[in-house]
Amino acid sequence: RKRVRTRHFQRAKENGIKFTGLTSYDHLTAGIFDEAGIDFLLVGDSAGQNVLGYDTTLPVTVDELIPLTRAVSNAVSRAFVVADLPFGSYETSPDEALHTAFRFMKETHAHAVKLEGGVRSAEQIRRVVSAGIPVMGHIGFTPQSEHGLGGHIIQGRGAQLEQLLKDAHAVEDAGAFAVVLEMVPASAAAQVTKELKIPTIGVGAGPHVDGQLLVWTDFAGFTGGRIPKFVKQYADLRATLTGAATAYRHEVESGVYPGPEHSYPDE
Ligand code: KIV
Ligand code: NA
Repeated sequence: RKRVRTRHFQRAKENGIKFTGLTSYDHLTAGIFDEAGIDFLLVGDSAGQNVLGYDTTLPVTVDELIPLTRAVSNAVSRAFVVADLPFGSYETSPDEALHTAFRFMKETHAHAVKLEGGVRSAEQIRRVVSAGIPVMGHIGFTPQSEHGLGGHIIQGRGAQLEQLLKDAHAVEDAGAFAVVLEMVPASAAAQVTKELKIPTIGVGAGPHVDGQLLVWTDFAGFTGGRIPKFVKQYADLRATLTGAATAYRHEVESGVYPGPEHSYPDE
């Protein structure tokens, strides 16, 4: 199976073939998703909530993401691996962005990095790309600025469409190979997708984009409580694992497990 490269995403857009991404934070799920033909794996700073137990992505550090990203890279033979640059690791200057991108490329063997922001991050994208590192942009709702945006709010509605388009073009002009559109109206995502030459990747952006991305713990049904409207749960792993752990506990408590079939005989 041939490795996915940036040109495959570009070719998919040109040929109208949709591609698929999931987040992954560990070797086990990365191997499964690679086997299932998922085209790219994002080691997102959503690991903050889904692995590390934080409320937001803001506390996540480069040192925390590097081992997770390395575990994912080591698991794949086909999928394209994207390392997310965490909050505070690239905003200060293009040099800081490049320094952080070098760390991920050298220490994790990821194939690209992702960073948030359109116009405001264009110089960072340009600098990283100039060093031969592919960059995935990320506009619309950008979780690292949730306090600035005033919460988990849909972006690009009404008069905001103009800013979304400016951000999209800034990311493309800076040399990004693709751009994530998070939580934007389907019509806005359609317009961005039509105007850009590079592929768009929707997460809560409707069907008129070139690829889709979901957070794996959402798509697998691990997330309890309220889930965003755009998430489709393709499995119910929270219920499955809760059931398995409860059954195991009951069988140990009642002496059913381990039985003779799970015990080593003398000879
Ligand atoms: O960290 C993440 O999972 C992301 C996606 C939701 C775009 O950045
Ligand atoms: Na992220």
